[in-house]
Amino acid sequence: MNETVTGATGETTRTTRPQPGPWRRFVDAVDERMGIRALEYPVPEHANNLGWSLGALTGVSFLVLLVTGIYIGQFYSPMPEDANQSVRDLVTNVWLGGFARGLHFWTAQAMFVLAVLHMLRVFLHGSFKKPREGNWIVGSTMLLLTFLAVFTGTVLKWDQEGFEALLHNLDVAELLGGLGVWFTGGLTDRVPILFRLYTAHAVILPGLILVLFVLHALLVKRHKISPHPSIPHPEAEEPEPFTNHLKRAGAFGLVLVGGLSLLAVLLPPVLGPQPVEGIEVTRPLWFFWWFFPFEEWFGVASVGIVMAVVFGLLYLVPFLYRSPRRHWRDRKISMGVVLVILLALAAISINVWINNPRGH
Ligand code: HEM
Repeated sequence: MNETVTGATGETTRTTRPQPGPWRRFVDAVDERMGIRALEYPVPEHANNLGWSLGALTGVSFLVLLVTGIYIGQFYSPMPEDANQSVRDLVTNVWLGGFARGLHFWTAQAMFVLAVLHMLRVFLHGSFKKPREGNWIVGSTMLLLTFLAVFTGTVLKWDQEGFEALLHNLDVAELLGGLGVWFTGGLTDRVPILFRLYTAHAVILPGLILVLFVLHALLVKRHKISPHPSIPHPEAEEPEPFTNHLKRAGAFGLVLVGGLSLLAVLLPPVLGPQPVEGIEVTRPLWFFWWFFPFEEWFGVASVGIVMAVVFGLLYLVPFLYRSPRRHWRDRKISMGVVLVILLALAAISINVWINNPRGH
């Protein structure tokens, strides 16, 4: 491209600038219409690693769940008389049906684990402190919704494990009194509760997570990524455009999806026969195990109380730890509390794994 430049003394020279390549022209054209260059805002150097990409990996998992969920949803029947058989048919008769189901199953657990790890990273670096308290609350709500999505998902296959999960649903409903009617078959005679749980699993919960995710991401952009507590002079860091951060997170995401695909092939989720009413014999998915002792000691309804206490405390975190100290060395008590909670959860789960091999 030729360009005429006028110098300080009035003389003019013609310079040649290289033509932008087709990719650059494409990006320019899209940017002109959609403003995508707004994504090139600076992200600090310290955020370009795995620890600070755990939120993005949680987002990647959510995306995989949406895609696989849409696919398996084409073949699933949420009617109690048909649900179990429709999953069986999905696995045996549908092209990539077993793989899509396996990937959905493993990714759901990965999303929950990644969200918890991301939360621990945020806690460790004090990233939830002023002005990010609101985003901690948005994140906690997404974690709760993710938990509920996994729970409703286990009911859908309508085998013994799914049926027993539903029984817990009914017990928690009783605990909620009048408000709990939504969780029972008592809301309406016409629509089976399995169908309504399916609506929650496939539409309501992912829809809410999506809306909250947009808010979460907008708040991250507004407050900027939190400073690293071990870096005293953030201005010395060399920021990179967010698009580079996205590329790195995308590479981590590919490794994640590869690993989960392997799991889907090597360890496909089991599917039991149609459920038998009135018995409680199965051991639920591992991340419900920490409920076991409470159930044994205080009855099934305690599951609802334990959930309320755990998530209630999670919501209170930014208000309980208000000091501006961010480095973990200056927050030994809070680090100790979290460590004790994590060790207790691990000990309970290992105990259930060893002593309740089949159920309770
Ligand atoms: C469940 C799905 C979640 C998704 C998809 C998600 C996604 C993200 C992403 C992409 C970021 C940007 C930086 C980073 O990765 O560290 C972020 C930051 C943040 N998240 Fe989450 N998150 C989720 C859950 C949570 C939870 C459970 C909490 C806390 C209870 C939380 C609290 C925060 C906070 C406070 C920030 C700002 C951190 C900073 O500036 O360093 N998020 N989240």
